[in-house]
Amino acid sequence: MATVEKLAVHGGPATVKARDHASWPDITDDDRAEVLAVLDRGILCGAESPAITGLEGDWADYLGVEHCIAMSSGTAALHTAIVSVGIRPGDEVIVPAYTYISTAAAVAHHGAVPVFCDIDERTFNIDPARIEERITDRTAAIMPVHVHGLPADMEAIRAIADRHGLAVIEDAAQSHGATYKGRKTGSLGECAGFSLNATKNLSAGEGGLFVTDDPKLFDIARRFSNRGEDVPNLRPGEFRIDSYVSHGLGWNYRSQELPAALARSQLRRLDYYTENAQRNGAILDEGLSALTGVTPPYVPPDRTSVYYKYRVSIDADALGFDGPAAELRDRLIRALRAEGVEALLWQVEPLPAYPAFRRKLYGPWYPNQDDEPLLDWDPAQYPVTVRVLDSSFIIGSEQRPIIIQDGALMRDYLAAFEKVLRNLDALLELPFEPLRFD
Ligand SMILES: Cc1ncc(COP(=O)(O)O)c(C=O)c1O
Repeated sequence: MATVEKLAVHGGPATVKARDHASWPDITDDDRAEVLAVLDRGILCGAESPAITGLEGDWADYLGVEHCIAMSSGTAALHTAIVSVGIRPGDEVIVPAYTYISTAAAVAHHGAVPVFCDIDERTFNIDPARIEERITDRTAAIMPVHVHGLPADMEAIRAIADRHGLAVIEDAAQSHGATYKGRKTGSLGECAGFSLNATKNLSAGEGGLFVTDDPKLFDIARRFSNRGEDVPNLRPGEFRIDSYVSHGLGWNYRSQELPAALARSQLRRLDYYTENAQRNGAILDEGLSALTGVTPPYVPPDRTSVYYKYRVSIDADALGFDGPAAELRDRLIRALRAEGVEALLWQVEPLPAYPAFRRKLYGPWYPNQDDEPLLDWDPAQYPVTVRVLDSSFIIGSEQRPIIIQDGALMRDYLAAFEKVLRNLDALLELPFEPLRFD
């Protein structure tokens, strides 16, 4: 007698076991030794910090750029990038409507205005065809984000920037090692910022990396991120009377030895992890392409993705669902999660929908700001972003991303997709409850 297949969300057996997952970041004995060596040396921060200067040199070499400054976060590196290219309060910077808050916050932190631009349906990156309509006489820069670890269309963006005399700042927070026409992200604009947050493909716990080829930008960035002071090249025991002169109002965005040592040690294995992420991406691509109603993320042939996030799109029509796309998305996520797949939401609205950008006086934090009425925002300005976010979701969580999993688990994920899609009718009979960041 044929057995009736029961979805895990209906109480059936899960396809994937939680214990089959590996956790990120992957900490090895080499990492432990490097961190302990910092404690043994006793130098924790400052100008003569071997792990920090080592990481800066290694990262600049890895990208093929002249200068790198290790910082306290990716947000700090992006804020520094905004300042280093000469953006002034009131200037406008074009950023994608789909990204992480820090891209636009880095602009607003300097009193400049983030101007949101819609994205490309297939790459999820800023759509170069929509940039020029956003340019005004106050526009000073374009800030593409290599979202999910896939490079933005940098040649098209550079052509627009050159036509209008704009700087290009890369938000490379998610794209360590990704390439565009053979060149690594972070080496494609005037300057760039990377994140070393624990979820990232290269991680230090928290941290960031500012990079540039331009010595002028490097000097500004170094002072700005060091409370306006020049970093003296002091040797142990040496003292310089002018070392505390501040040449302008800066921030303390400096890195520290412990996270720098960890990141430097992890960097030695970055390419190995990237290859694993790409192998897993290829397994998911092939399996999902064979299914009706789901589409893997698109990687144009002139780029490589490092799959910081793996976004799957759903076609409600092809699946015969005529309700709201977000409902089908949430139902599928719930069912896949019950099967043991790390399926989740990341960003559910375009950035201009966030309260942070809907206050009359956004910028400095002020008490009771939650009491202020929020200004309207216009979803019609960002139709692709809205549509994409309603009809797609992420595979791989921050603690269990695909970069550290094995191929067998990816095949189990595909089996779970097949099972859920085979039983879609039964799934749609469940009462619907929208997901809320669970
Ligand atoms: C696209 C993007 N930009 C900027 C950041 C900010 O980096 P951090 O969290 O290190 O400040 C992140 C990561 O969190 C990010 O994903």
